[in-house]
Amino acid sequence: MNLSRTSFKLHTSPHTTRVSTHLRASMSTPKLFQPYKLGSIGELKHRIVMAPVTRNRGNNKHVLVERSVEHYRARSVVPGTLIIGEATYIAQKASGYTFHVPGIWNDEQIAGWKKVVDAVHANGSYIVLQLWALGRAAIPEVLEQEDPSLPYVSAGDIQVEGVSKAPRPLTHADIKEYVQLYAQAARNGMEKAGFDGVEIHGGNGYIIDQFLKDRTNNRTDEYGGSDENKARFALEVVEAVANAVGQDKVGLRLAPWQTRFDYRLYRDDPKPTFGYLVRQVRERLPDLAYLHVIEPRIQDSFEIELNETNDFLRELWKGKTYMTAGGFTREMALEHAEHTDELIGFGRAFISNPDLVERLQKNIPLTPHDRTHFYTLETEVGYNDYPRHDEDKPIPPPNENAIASLEYVSAVRKAVNEGQ
Ligand SMILES: Cc1cc2nc3c(=O)[nH]c(=O)nc-3n(C[C@H](O)[C@H](O)[C@H](O)COP(=O)(O)O)c2cc1C
Repeated sequence: MNLSRTSFKLHTSPHTTRVSTHLRASMSTPKLFQPYKLGSIGELKHRIVMAPVTRNRGNNKHVLVERSVEHYRARSVVPGTLIIGEATYIAQKASGYTFHVPGIWNDEQIAGWKKVVDAVHANGSYIVLQLWALGRAAIPEVLEQEDPSLPYVSAGDIQVEGVSKAPRPLTHADIKEYVQLYAQAARNGMEKAGFDGVEIHGGNGYIIDQFLKDRTNNRTDEYGGSDENKARFALEVVEAVANAVGQDKVGLRLAPWQTRFDYRLYRDDPKPTFGYLVRQVRERLPDLAYLHVIEPRIQDSFEIELNETNDFLRELWKGKTYMTAGGFTREMALEHAEHTDELIGFGRAFISNPDLVERLQKNIPLTPHDRTHFYTLETEVGYNDYPRHDEDKPIPPPNENAIASLEYVSAVRKAVNEGQ
C-alpha cells in the first residue's frame, strides 16, 4: 500500500481527517518506546525502566564486584535506558539484611558502584542510586554481626513477628543523624560514583515507610500521630537529599499499600498520610525529578488481589514525572503508556531477561523468572547466565539450595533461635 497517497486522500473532510489521525497514530511507535526527557537526569529513549532489585551478589563487605558490572552492562545495552540500581545501604547502621547488599559509605563501595555506573554510561544509558535504611526490617543478629554496637531501631517500638527483640525508637538525635546519612550517601553516589540521580527508598516496610504507617509508628512526639507528623521524617530526608545533590536529581519511591513485615493483620488507610506527603513534596520541591509508586497489586514481589489504586497520588502529581511499577506485562505496559505519560518499571522480568528492552520492543517472548535465583549470595548462577534472545544458551537450572528473600530472613532467625 502506498501510505503517503492514502493519507493524502484521507485529508479531504473533517471526518476523514479524524480517520487519518487515527491511522497515523496506530502506525506510529507505541508511546512505551518513545523518548522521554527525565529532567536533568537524562534523555530516555523509551519508557521502560529497570526497577531496583536486590540480588545479594556483592562481596561480604557490601562491595559490588565485576559480576555486577556485567549484570548492569547487559541490561543497559539499549542506549537511553534508565536503570535504578539495587537498594544500597546509606551507612553500616542502616544495614542488617545480608553482607552482600551494596553500601555507599566507604571508598571501596563507591569504587565498586563507580565501575557499574561507568559501564552503564558507556552504553549511553543512565543509572540512579537507591538509598536504603532498614530500621526494624533488619535482622537484629545480622546487625550485631556487622558491629555489636549498632542499635536495632525503628520509628516506634513495635516488634516484628518472629524477631528476637523489639526495635528501639529513633531519638531526635538519631533522626538528625539518619537525615544526614541519607544526604551524605546521596553526595557519595553523585559526586564520587558518578550516578545520574538518586532515589529515596520510601517503600516496602523500611525505615521511611515505618514512620508513614500507623502499624509501625506508635510515637507520641512530633514524628507520630497526625499525617503531618508521620510524614515529617520522610520530608526531612527528601529535603536534605535535595539540598545535597539538587532536587532535579532526586526521585522518591513509595508503596502505600505494602504491608510487609507483619503488618498483614492490620491495614490502615494510607491515603491521608501519603496524600499529605506527596502534596508537601510537590509544594516544597517543585523540581523533584520523579515520584515512583508501586502498584497495589504487588506485595513484596508477589501478585495479590487488592482492589485499590494509586490514582489519588497520580492526581496529586499531575503534570510531573510519575513512574509506576508492579506486575506489568508487555501488553499492560503498552496500554498503560499509551494512555498516560508514565515511566514503567519492570523488576522480575529484568532479572531473567538481560535484553528485556529489545524483547519488549520486538515482541519476543520473555524468559520467565525463577525465584530460586533471586537472592542467592555471591553466586554467578541465575545472575549473568540468562540468555539474550539472540544467544544459543540454556536457561539456568533452578537453584535447589536457594532460599528466597523473606524465607532467608526467617531462616536466619530460626537458626539464631535454635542456637546454630
Ligand atoms: C528479587 C527482588 C528484589 C527487589 N529488590 C528491591 C529493592 O532493592 N528496592 C526496591 O525498591 N524494590 C525492590 N524490589 C521490588 C521491585 O522493584 C518491584 O517493585 C517488584 O518486583 C514489582 O515489579 P515486577 O512485577 O515488575 O517484578 C525487588 C523485587 C524483587 C523480585
